[in-house]
Amino acid sequence: MDLRSFRPEDRAGVICLWEEDDPNPAPWNKAADILDNKQNYQPGLLFVAEDCGAIVGTVMAGYDGRRGWIYSVVVTPTHRRKGIASKLLALAEQELVSLGCTKLNLQVRDGNEGAVKLYESLGYNVEARVSMGKRLRS
Ligand SMILES: CC(C)(COP(=O)(O)OP(=O)(O)OC[C@H]1O[C@@H](n2cnc3c(N)ncnc32)[C@H](O)[C@@H]1OP(=O)(O)O)[C@@H](O)C(=O)NCCC(=O)NCCS
Repeated sequence: MDLRSFRPEDRAGVICLWEEDDPNPAPWNKAADILDNKQNYQPGLLFVAEDCGAIVGTVMAGYDGRRGWIYSVVVTPTHRRKGIASKLLALAEQELVSLGCTKLNLQVRDGNEGAVKLYESLGYNVEARVSMGKRLRS
């Protein structure tokens, strides 16, 4: 198992993993678009797990100069509960700390209890916030 930063040759594998996780994405959530856009913004903040040539996990992060955000935490079903997401999150945290980040945030869809358990096991706490969003274009 290789846990490392994204490389251009990982593109197809990452898209495949994300499409497996979200087979019918909204038009603004297409895997290829998200991945290609990320290569234009903080490309060093995308981490992958590779096993026998296949991309089996990802974690993406963002940093705004103050806080860090975590996105796209996905592990392929056959590789879950082996610590892959935890290790990828540790890689992302390490990189964010090296950039000066002092606080991390993330969002979990309502009802995704497995994800909540994962983050709690890594020291994340549920915080009393109201999550708001506004779509600027589709
Ligand atoms: C959530 C997800 C990323 C976890 O990946 P993973 O590699 O299996 O997680 P880890 O093996 O690092 O889990 C570490 C710990 O988190 C907790 N945990 C992880 N998944 C869990 C689940 N489904 N139910 C309960 N606890 C869970 C456990 O405490 C686990 O330790 P254990 O296996 O020794 O009990 C994976 O299930 C997944 O890709 N789900 C679909 C996409 C998704 O929901 N992503 C999160 C978006 S916010």
